[in-house]
Amino acid sequence: MRVVSGIQPTGNLHLGNYLGAIRNWVRMQDELSEGSECLFFLADMHAISMPHDPAELRRGTIEMAAALIACGIDPTRSILFNQAQVPQHAELQWLLTGTARMGWLNRMTQWKDKAGKNREGASVALFAYPVLQAADVLLYQATHVPVGEDQKQHLELARDIAQKFNNDFASEEKPVFTLPDPFIPPAAARIMSLRDGSAKMSKSDPSEMSRINLIDDADTIMKKVKKAKTDPDPLPDNVEALEGRPEALNLVTIYCALTESAPEAVLAEQAGKGFGAFKPLLGEALVETLAPISSRFRALLDDREAIDAALARGAALARERAAPTLSATYEALGL
Ligand code: ADP
Ligand code: NA
Repeated sequence: MRVVSGIQPTGNLHLGNYLGAIRNWVRMQDELSEGSECLFFLADMHAISMPHDPAELRRGTIEMAAALIACGIDPTRSILFNQAQVPQHAELQWLLTGTARMGWLNRMTQWKDKAGKNREGASVALFAYPVLQAADVLLYQATHVPVGEDQKQHLELARDIAQKFNNDFASEEKPVFTLPDPFIPPAAARIMSLRDGSAKMSKSDPSEMSRINLIDDADTIMKKVKKAKTDPDPLPDNVEALEGRPEALNLVTIYCALTESAPEAVLAEQAGKGFGAFKPLLGEALVETLAPISSRFRALLDDREAIDAALARGAALARERAAPTLSATYEALGL
């Protein structure tokens, strides 16, 4: 099993990133069997597809590395690196642009969303972004790629590219690329905004009160939870009764994810309680989970050399893992 996944090194990590993605990475790392391997990368090469500030990108990359380590990614067990230090990502992307079709890329909903009406003004990188994503996983013969619902289409594309390449340039017995499977971890929670139960918790939400950042201190967390939007009804004794109460459901979902308990069990215990009583419990559970993460994060940021060393080590290992696939690709293409 080879697990490969990346995250953009932009901005502060929030609770949604943690419960929806990173905590599952940590679990995969911790549960891997002998001979399996996890590669986690900071997608700094993807970040240049949109207008960006170089100094901020550099800072974001270091901060994201520190945050991942603080969350439990162990750079001595997993291969943690940033793409820019592994030039094979960009190389393989170019080689794959010969196989990817314009029509395939044109159909990508993220391209349509991000380019909007200004396609002529969008960067070529924004259009070709999914080909870099394909390179990111094909380069390592990834078998499992943990992805959110929103990235499933790009992983399908990676499979299409791999299949066409194998078909056009390799024999059936000796394919160049492994077809990666999307892996949506069963426990991946989808966390909604604290201000609007119908919107995803996201760093792009202008309201700070809408999200819990992993580095929020205890007071801030308690305040955000206290102000979180809810309704006046008490907690019901069954999950179905939370239907049509998205804010209430979200707070229960967060509590369940943090305490690793089933909603049925939590509701059986809390039924009849109003949010005035439930919110402090939730706040405490959040502080209990996040306080150690944020203190590790702060300590790591004070030791920039350790982060640089971890990333350099990860990049060296990633370059090693990438080399055979890249040579096979050149060779298959007659280069
Ligand atoms: P954001 O929406 O804040 O920009 P990203 O798009 O950078 O976050 O997502 C990084 C990772 O975190 C992805 O794997 C994504 O699926 C996950 N993620 C982001 N927001 C949430 C959320 N609200 N609930 C669950 N997972 C999330
Ligand atoms: Na996003």
